[in-house]
Amino acid sequence: MKNTFIFLLAIVILVGGCTHDSITPNTNSNSNTNTNTGTGTGTGTGTGTGTGTGSGTVTNTVCFQSDVLPLFQTYCASTGCHDATTAKEGLNLTTYANITRGISASNLNGSRYYTIITSGSMPPRNSPKLTTAQIATIASWINQGATNATCTIATTCDTTQTTYSKGISNLFATYCNGCHGVAPGSGNVILSDYANSKIAGTSMKTAFLNAINYTSATPAMNMPQSGQLNTCQIKQITIWINNGCPQ
Ligand code: HEC
Repeated sequence: MKNTFIFLLAIVILVGGCTHDSITPNTNSNSNTNTNTGTGTGTGTGTGTGTGTGSGTVTNTVCFQSDVLPLFQTYCASTGCHDATTAKEGLNLTTYANITRGISASNLNGSRYYTIITSGSMPPRNSPKLTTAQIATIASWINQGATNATCTIATTCDTTQTTYSKGISNLFATYCNGCHGVAPGSGNVILSDYANSKIAGTSMKTAFLNAINYTSATPAMNMPQSGQLNTCQIKQITIWINNGCPQ
């Protein structure tokens, strides 16, 4: 009995001695468990749900006509590309019916005209790219069901939004920069940064005002070519130009 005990004790000591090295890996696996707890803190994912709740999405309905169509017209349907005349690869991306051929409602990954933008393939090479915010607008529109919604334009025109950084640069980004976003810019006009926009707004002041008011001698010079801006937008840009294009 006593011998057995000593024998067992010896085994314990021996085994203990032998397995001593393996204590370290054991400790490691413990810290692994900790790492798991870290993932568990994936309450981060929970926070994501918070974002997903996107109460923003609920109140912030994206309107196809005013928010999405101008992006396709400007960035995809620029002259010589997917416009009504050229319709490269048979694609004329200037109407709701045509655009939604490549869109699957509430299904971003199934929307070819969305994934081709997010993959970076379109617009091609040196063409101006859509901004992250613009791509997010298209995503919201698809997630909201990709309807042909027209939103009522505010009856009051906010004429305080008339500096480049406050208001004007947004108008240019939505309606102009698919053609005027990257040097040299169509007609040598660049509207995607303040310095160049000021040059255009001052050095060709009259032509610029004619272009947005659709009073150019040549119709092709009326901007944007896909259709006139609304009265308020024209007013805001006109004020900006007449004020000497403030930053
Ligand atoms: C689909 C492409 C496209 C879009 C969108 C577009 N432009 Fe243009 N723009 C052009 C082209 C092309 C020219 C040069 C036309 C020419 O020289 O025949 C031009 C020329 C101009 C000129 C010079 C006019 C002149 O008389 O020299 C101004 C100013 C201008 N655009 C402003 C704008 C503004 C402001 C917007 C947005 C509200 C806009 N453009 C949107 C393609 C576009």
